[in-house]
Parts: sequence; C-alpha cells; structure tokens
Amino acid sequence: MKKGYILCFDSGIGGLTTLVQARRLLPKEDFIYYADTVHAPYGDKPRTEVLKLTRNAIASLKPLGLSAVLLACNAATSAGAATLRGELDMPLVGLEPAIKPALKAVDGQVIVLSTVLTVHGEKFHVLLESLPQHERVKALGCPGLMELIEENPQHKNIEPYLRALLRPYEQDMSALVLGCTHYIFLKPLFKRLWPNIPLFDGNEGVSRRLAQIISLQGLKGGAGDLLMLCSEHGEEAQKRFAIKSQYFYDYYEKIEKEDILV
Ligand code: DGL
Repeated sequence: MKKGYILCFDSGIGGLTTLVQARRLLPKEDFIYYADTVHAPYGDKPRTEVLKLTRNAIASLKPLGLSAVLLACNAATSAGAATLRGELDMPLVGLEPAIKPALKAVDGQVIVLSTVLTVHGEKFHVLLESLPQHERVKALGCPGLMELIEENPQHKNIEPYLRALLRPYEQDMSALVLGCTHYIFLKPLFKRLWPNIPLFDGNEGVSRRLAQIISLQGLKGGAGDLLMLCSEHGEEAQKRFAIKSQYFYDYYEKIEKEDILV
C-alpha cells in the first residue's frame, strides 16, 4: 500500500461521524478530512454533478499524497463509488444505508432517512431489491435537514421537522436507518423522541471494511495525524472550517461516549 493520507470525504461535517469511527479502528493512520463546503448540499443535486464534484475533490487532494479514499457520504457513494473505484489507483470504500442489519434486527417497518439523491438513486434500489423482506422498508428523503444540522445539531427546527416527517409512520416504525452521515449527529434527539426505536448507520461497517483493506494491503502506520480542510479558498475560510469541524468532532465523541439526550 502506498504511503499517504486516507482521505475522508463529505460535502460538510457529516462525515466527521465516520472519521471518529475510522480513527478508532485505525489510530496510527494519517487522515485528511475534506468537506466540499462550496458545493454542499450534495443530496439535492443530480447524480452526474455529484460524481463530477467528488472526482474533482479527490483529484485536487491527490498532490498531498493519498493512500485510500473513504467516502463518508451516502450521496457521493450513491452517485459515484463504482465509477470512481474503476478510475482510481488506490482503494475506495463508500458508505451506504445500513438497511440489512436493521431488517435482521427487527420484524416491523424499517424507516430509512436519507437525502433525496440517495433514496432515489439506482444504487439504493439495487441494494433494496437484493434484500429479503425489503417490502418492510420505507425510504424518506429529507430535503433541508442537512443544512439545519450544519447550522447546529440542536437547531430548534429539527425536532418539528422530524416529528412531522415521521408522524404517519410512528405506529408501525420498528427501526430507523440514518442514511446520511449528517443525521448521525441527531442520535440523542432520536433517542429522546423515539426511545424504543433502534438506530442504524453504516459507519462501523465502512470503517471495518477500510481497516480490512488496509491490513490486506499492508499497514503503513503513520503518526495518527489529522488535517481538516474544506473547498473554500483562503486562510480565513480554512481556519473557520478547522474550528467548526473540531467542534463537531468533539461533539460527536461526547454524544457517543456519554449517551446524552438533548
Ligand atoms: N452527509 C451526506 C450523506 O451522507 C450528504 C449531505 C448532503 O450534502 O446533502 O449523504
């Protein structure tokens, strides 16, 4: 395996939830976290545009020295993982909604919350069709939710948004799949609103896949460094992003550890 950074990529801060998980499994690897803040949100864009943006972002970071790509974004994975895997000279892993474990764990209805791009994407439908009992799955696109979370995961409009979205399904809902990495920041809120509903996301699965690939190809063991970058130009913008992303990184570690409700 080449020496270099593992690129953890998202449109914004959502993929930090994946990064926390991946660094736990791979504490010695060097990571770049990169958010395409200029073009966020991805979830409302056409597939071809998101593929192009993801491809461009990876190409712009290649000169820093990359060893692997972790698409910590369900929308980018849906739009481009298969194509990009064929184009790149390094391993690429991508996140997809954790529907399979949810269907295994409960007998009732599984609700998937994701972006419009992901739930309407071909990849999602291929995945669904491949799963036994997929008729128990209901997928809901959540336009505008990522933007609220970017502002503040405790934004006052998030609770009414989710209550209204899920009201028609509350009776039968048995599990919730968080099919957008941004929504993972809302775990404490989901636990307060629907305490008996188990939550599923793909972070652990994708991190394990990444760790497996790295160990198969030979661990290179860096210093455990982390660079936080965004697509906005200028030192000020990078500084602002570094502060924001560090805040969200710490916030996620805290809600994971302390199991707090908001
Ligand atoms: N966090 C991203 C995902 O997992 C996408 C959010 C967006 O840009 O719409 O899909």
